[in-house]
Amino acid sequence: MNEQNVTKSIVFTVEPGGTLHGELRVPGDKSISHRSIMLGSLAEGVTEVTGFLEGEDALATLRAFRDMGVNIEGPDKGRVVIHGVGMRGLKTPAGPLNMGNSGTSMRLLCGLLSGQRFNTTLTGDSSLSGRPMRRVTEPLAEMGAVIGTTEVGTAPLNVCGDQPLHGIQFDMPVASAQVKSCLLLAGLYAVGRTCVTEPAPTRDHTERMLAGFGYPVQRDGATACVEGGGKLTATNVEVPADISSAAFFMVGASIASGSDVLLEHVGVNPTRTGVINILRQMGADITLSNEHDVGGEPVADIRVRSAPLKGIHIPEDQVPLAIDEFPALFVAAACAEGETVLTGAKELRVKESDRIQVMADGLHTLGVDARPTEDGMVIQGGGAGCQLGSGRVKSHDDHRIAMAFAMAALRASGPVVIDDCANVNTSFPGFVGLARGTGLKIKD
Ligand code: S3P
Repeated sequence: MNEQNVTKSIVFTVEPGGTLHGELRVPGDKSISHRSIMLGSLAEGVTEVTGFLEGEDALATLRAFRDMGVNIEGPDKGRVVIHGVGMRGLKTPAGPLNMGNSGTSMRLLCGLLSGQRFNTTLTGDSSLSGRPMRRVTEPLAEMGAVIGTTEVGTAPLNVCGDQPLHGIQFDMPVASAQVKSCLLLAGLYAVGRTCVTEPAPTRDHTERMLAGFGYPVQRDGATACVEGGGKLTATNVEVPADISSAAFFMVGASIASGSDVLLEHVGVNPTRTGVINILRQMGADITLSNEHDVGGEPVADIRVRSAPLKGIHIPEDQVPLAIDEFPALFVAAACAEGETVLTGAKELRVKESDRIQVMADGLHTLGVDARPTEDGMVIQGGGAGCQLGSGRVKSHDDHRIAMAFAMAALRASGPVVIDDCANVNTSFPGFVGLARGTGLKIKD
């Protein structure tokens, strides 16, 4: 049996009901973990990272830099020590760099590798190989990069080295932190200034971390700029817990009557807190305490107690701030009183799966009236006393779909069985154990 067949076989079986209780720390932030490896590798000096996410996606980034000659110790209980090689110190990898399921690795590395003196090939699994890459390869080409894609603009990506890059001003057509970060990383190697303007605020970890490594980033409203030719200086990075992983417990505790959880040391960068804003608008009982800054990123403990939720029209300006949390939010909507309407979220169709269609299909299996639209969903929630149905749903190898439906079981009338859950390890290793310890009746 090959590896893929083995990983395919993970199935979650979640018995219905229960409540969530306890204090827990979910694994490290995926976005910040990726960036810590990238900038730590290109820095001068030794960077120590703590709280690093030991999930498959961040490990794909780590392996890629090892393959390019960077000495990286760990990860050991979230500790990684990176011996930076400087901006020009990466070496030609022996073969293609496999990014697995990770869009962030592929898109950010594509920018960074455009500025190297050697050729590279970026590959990924079947999901990643179907995701749109022209959103990065086209603006990179404007900067002078030469990158080959398939005819339909997907991976494998062949990034040609030794191409002189020049800075551009790019107005992003989609609100994407991956595109913004890709171009800023290429901009480090470009002659002149690279500026990226976003149509709506997206996560700004790249800008913050570049500044933390001593690289000046000019930010003016929706525009971020870097001047090429600078250098990065090693620094230590403490990665907060991932709000995108915490989101499953925020929704679970909200919908399971009698629940009370404290999520510790969660990153609450305002470009990531859409899930808190949306759940609060739905009536959720969420309080933040112990708010402080860690290495340029705000963190807090988040307490969530169950509360009756109501359906809302989700404000479109919250969409990029909660872009990864919609699978969980759809489950919240199914348990809320009345209609929840999401618009302006077409991007969900090109994530690890088509999250609009796949969530609608699974919610139908659980008896929920969920109508997918081109750019969102309309969900009729049953309200505080309602039970969802039960049944077997497909995660389509999408980690966040699997975890969202696991939480749905808290309000189901019978077991929820979820197929193809191996990719939960891409972002949330240990999910089953942590969720079970908190009260979810899950087994794999
Ligand atoms: C990410 C940006 C988002 C998000 C992804 C991580 C990042 O993607 O969905 O999980 O780390 O920059 P887009 O920028 O494509 O929206």
